[in-house]
Amino acid sequence: MSGNRAVAASTEIYDYTQLKQLTKDQKAELEMLEQAELGTGSTVSGYRIIDNQLSAKLLSGHTIPLVGLGTWKSAKGEVGAAVATALRQGYRHIDCARVYQNEHEVGEALEAVLAEGVVQRGEIFITSKLWNTDHEPARVEAACRKSMEDLRVSYLDLYLVHWPVTGNVGPEVQPPLEGTWAAMEALVDKGLVRSIGVSNFSTRKLERLMATARIKPAVVQVESHPYFRNESLRAWCSDRGIHLTAYSPLGSPDSAAMLRRAEDGPSLLKDPVVAEAAARLGRNAGQILIRWALQRGTSVLPKSVNPERIKSNLEVFDWEIPADMYEQLSNLAHQQRMVDGSFWINPAGPYRTLQDLWDE
Ligand code: A2P
Repeated sequence: MSGNRAVAASTEIYDYTQLKQLTKDQKAELEMLEQAELGTGSTVSGYRIIDNQLSAKLLSGHTIPLVGLGTWKSAKGEVGAAVATALRQGYRHIDCARVYQNEHEVGEALEAVLAEGVVQRGEIFITSKLWNTDHEPARVEAACRKSMEDLRVSYLDLYLVHWPVTGNVGPEVQPPLEGTWAAMEALVDKGLVRSIGVSNFSTRKLERLMATARIKPAVVQVESHPYFRNESLRAWCSDRGIHLTAYSPLGSPDSAAMLRRAEDGPSLLKDPVVAEAAARLGRNAGQILIRWALQRGTSVLPKSVNPERIKSNLEVFDWEIPADMYEQLSNLAHQQRMVDGSFWINPAGPYRTLQDLWDE
């Protein structure tokens, strides 16, 4: 048997021609070793199962787990490990986008974790986003399929229009957002995507989109945290049953240089009110900010590539921020978009000013 054991322990365990030549007993032993290799045996102990994870029902009828791993700015060579750690630590929601240029590596990690047999595809909520250069209705399906191929999935749980921006200069957004939305609806009809939504839209742009929409956006994903509550948009969505997902919930500290934001500006993670809540509740600042988002009824996408932070950012389900502290966190005077969209402003339009972009 030792000869066969050597075969089983090597990469040749996947050589089924060889498997056929084995006796019944040898085959059984090989299958057992193969199971162990795939992780359904001892490596299962590397998993954390979180039973009391919060989720919300979407207008589409599907369910979204409220804490998802953000992958914007997660570098190639790091993002795969982050996704695998997250899934093994209990995350069931991964937020992706074509423009993050890392979906291929996310897909590899996803496939590897699914092969371990502990988590099933149907338990994981996967989001991707349509990039600005693919708004032309004829390009939408191909863009979606490219993300699906890179992510190695046969459907997406959620596909979002990433920005109300196409990159074309002129008085109006071209192609118009209504046509792009109709192509997004067709993805639902075809079963490629379960829910559709938008990101970085204002209420005015949403109202315009919804005037011609056949399928209402199930999710609106925008920046939201105590330094930019985005409260009127949250209330508008809540009144219509549209789910709001908060991106950059920790104040996006790692985007300051990239977005030319003053690096010595106020730090949400170091805010005294956040620090006081953390000290009083025996939590860290990240957990306070993630829990604040949950108590506000939003889902939330903390980004991390650090295993300890990935783990601790999900430890937010079995405790609460008391009402007085929640109120304080919900009334911080400093309000500032960290992702202000100034990179889309063009004197030739369609967005000549930040007011044009955000309608505020
Ligand atoms: P890292 O990836 O090294 O953990 P946001 O989600 O608002 O975009 O913030 C992401 C940034 O916050 C990243 O720089 C990330 O770094 C860092 N980060 C993630 N979780 C925590 C945490 N619990 N405490 C402090 N920083 C965190």
